[in-house]
Amino acid sequence: MTFDELLTTRRSIRKYQDIPVPLDIVKEMIRESTLAPSSGNEQPWKFIIVDNKQMLERMSTESKNNILARIDANPDDYAKKYQGLLQNESYNVFFNAPCLVIILGNSGVKNLFVDCALAASYFMMAATSRGLGTCWVNLGTQIHDPEMKKKLNIPDDCTIVAPITLGYPVSIPSAPKRNDPEIIKIITPRQE
Ligand SMILES: Cc1cc2nc3c(=O)[nH]c(=O)nc-3n(C[C@H](O)[C@H](O)[C@H](O)COP(=O)(O)O)c2cc1C
Repeated sequence: MTFDELLTTRRSIRKYQDIPVPLDIVKEMIRESTLAPSSGNEQPWKFIIVDNKQMLERMSTESKNNILARIDANPDDYAKKYQGLLQNESYNVFFNAPCLVIILGNSGVKNLFVDCALAASYFMMAATSRGLGTCWVNLGTQIHDPEMKKKLNIPDDCTIVAPITLGYPVSIPSAPKRNDPEIIKIITPRQE
């Protein structure tokens, strides 16, 4: 796959085949994602692999309930537009994917979100290059239940940045429309 093909083939995948992803391959892709740049080369990313559909269902319910509670407390919450979807009991925020990789890190790290997002981007490309599909699922970040956090080994001082579903896609959808890039200024050698 050329780099250009990689960029155009990577899509957010929301339908997965019921085929497990070998753990060795997941670990290989995680290693590749750590080739991403990070501020001061701090590499603040940590990873959790959830290779268990029942656990993913419980995590989906936990995250949905927490977001719904947040919307109840604040009707202006950004997730309000997803309220109907989140109220649908059969909606699994992780799309019944066979695997989830969570990228997280210490909440005190200044550039945590930028660094982890870069690792997430590399991870999604590493998956695409192997014929695997991914989707970054913000709706799955709200894991607060202490028991569940303990099971997942999420330390209290860590924040989940990117839960990424992983699996073999049923099909690859066409790209949602992109806007033309907004280049707001070009300064040439002859201009200031
Ligand atoms: C930070 C972030 C959060 C996202 N959260 C969700 C989500 O919760 N659920 C979902 O279905 N897709 C989610 N997506 C996927 C976007 O909807 C998707 O990237 C966008 O529609 C463009 O489609 P493409 O990835 O196929 O190019 C998220 C993407 C990003 C970058």
